[in-house]
Amino acid sequence: MKKTLSYLKPYAGGLALGMATKIAGSAAELVLPFILSHIIDDLIPLKNSGRIYVMGGVMLLFALIALGGNVLANRLSAKVAGGMTHDIRYDLFRKTCYLKCRQVDEVTVPSLISRLTSDTYYVNQMVARTMRMGVRAPILLFGGLVFCFLLNVKLALVLLAVVPVVAVPLYFITRKSVPMYMSVQKSGDKMVRSVQEDITGIRVIKALSKTEYENKKFEGVAGDLASAEFDAQRIMSLTNPLTSLILNLGLVGVIVTGAFLSSEPGDITGFLTYFTIVLNAMLGISKIFVIISRGAASSERIERVLALDEREPVCELPEGDEGYAVQFKDVSFSYNGKENNISGLSFALKRGQSLGLIGATGSGKSTVINLLMRFYDVTGGAVYVGGKDVRSVPASELRRRFGVVFQNDFLMADSVRANIDYGRGLSEAAAERAAQCAQAAEFIAGLSGGMDHDLAQKAGDLSGGQKQRLLVARALAGEPEFIVLDDSSSALDYATDSKMRRAIARNYAAATKVIVAQRVSSVKNCDLIIVLDDGRVSGMGTHDELMANCEEYRAIASTQMGVTA
Ligand SMILES: Nc1ncnc2c1ncn2[C@@H]1O[C@H](COP(=O)(O)OP(=O)(O)O)[C@@H](O)[C@H]1O
Ligand SMILES: [Mg+2]
Repeated sequence: MKKTLSYLKPYAGGLALGMATKIAGSAAELVLPFILSHIIDDLIPLKNSGRIYVMGGVMLLFALIALGGNVLANRLSAKVAGGMTHDIRYDLFRKTCYLKCRQVDEVTVPSLISRLTSDTYYVNQMVARTMRMGVRAPILLFGGLVFCFLLNVKLALVLLAVVPVVAVPLYFITRKSVPMYMSVQKSGDKMVRSVQEDITGIRVIKALSKTEYENKKFEGVAGDLASAEFDAQRIMSLTNPLTSLILNLGLVGVIVTGAFLSSEPGDITGFLTYFTIVLNAMLGISKIFVIISRGAASSERIERVLALDEREPVCELPEGDEGYAVQFKDVSFSYNGKENNISGLSFALKRGQSLGLIGATGSGKSTVINLLMRFYDVTGGAVYVGGKDVRSVPASELRRRFGVVFQNDFLMADSVRANIDYGRGLSEAAAERAAQCAQAAEFIAGLSGGMDHDLAQKAGDLSGGQKQRLLVARALAGEPEFIVLDDSSSALDYATDSKMRRAIARNYAAATKVIVAQRVSSVKNCDLIIVLDDGRVSGMGTHDELMANCEEYRAIASTQMGVTA
């Protein structure tokens, strides 16, 4: 919570002013019944209308102070809490963007989303409500008691006797409800996960006619959330009627005692008001307790992410063999630390050479790219880029040298030009050339507005093949030293795929290329082809060599091209 509260620092002025005005407003409110009881008991019997008017005016003044103080305080609390939440969200979002892949795997994306959305909201509520109810309730509670004693000590003792009768059950109810609200937060996480999966996979769900199935699944998660909320609310809902009951019993007690002690009517009127104020204040304290507990749990979740060290350590490591642009030396890697996803992989590429990676889904092709670009660190061996171990160069410097299309990469809802440029400020000519090579120029010209055409979200208005060509254009546009294409031509027809490959080879001859493909035709002309099977190399060489020596490669080739060796 410390780190979260430190976000209040820039708003210290507003925080202090807000609390001060809240204190003033609440205090002014407290004085009102006291004055009223004074008017009833001391002024009305005198029939001194002048003084009654004066005191009425004083009451009005205090009422205005109460109103002004409370309105200003509520505004300030909204401002302070809003500003602070904005800052936390900003930092959290930044942190989330820089997290290492492994850290994202651990925290999970849905949990990051709910931390950014609902948890920051709970922190906002914690600050805003504490600045309002949190300041007001204790003042009303203790101030109310003090005024009661000032009015009439004997009646005040009746009130004092009732306080624990309310406080004890309220305490136990609140304590029981806190973990219940925590479980509401957990169920919320699950719901975000389910919604996220469903929305992302909406087409698959439709295609497989699984809408009903998903609805049922969602019903389950939403039901869990609803019942967790219901449990928490049910127990908290006891507090209001319970306090009302005790309040009414207490009021009867005051009136009976008042009558018995033949107290003055003004005292009793004042008392009835203070009684209500004090018990409501206790209710407010119990609510604020829940809100703070919930906010604390949320701030914990936020701080856990903020505390993650996203820096990728850079250390001095021996250099690889000179003269190679990319080199894997006996690399092994595991995502979960149990079974290897890559085992004993070694290969080397000279500058301008191309590597083709082929193999079944899950064989580790994308993982090779993850290791090459240091999205994950190897568990054994070493990866060298330009002769340097990837762990010995700052990650941003390393990645800047790459032009990459990831598997299932995405385009933004922005213009075609912005998608190709991606904030790099590239020249018009570079973008045009990249689009040309990626075989995208023609269809871009056909779009309304051409390069300025605004894409729909996730480029929903482009075909799969058009998306892929645009992604390739984005990768090429920066004139990168290394071009990495992970399954980026799967939606293209053979002719377009082959045109694109030839254009890349011709126009980006100096770039070292790594091409992941499902089709033999896409990697056939590569200088080196690696056939992966469950993270292991089952064949390595040129197309001709593999056709001659690698059973698996031959099998893939024959099913795809009708070629027999
Ligand atoms: N982030 C991840 N966490 C855990 N396992 C992963 C992760 N990414 C991939 N894997 C696993 O690693 C293996 C290789 O995956 P991948 O390299 O994506 O295969 P390919 O690209 O050849 O289809 C698969 O078994 C896959 O389930
Ligand atoms: Mg893959």
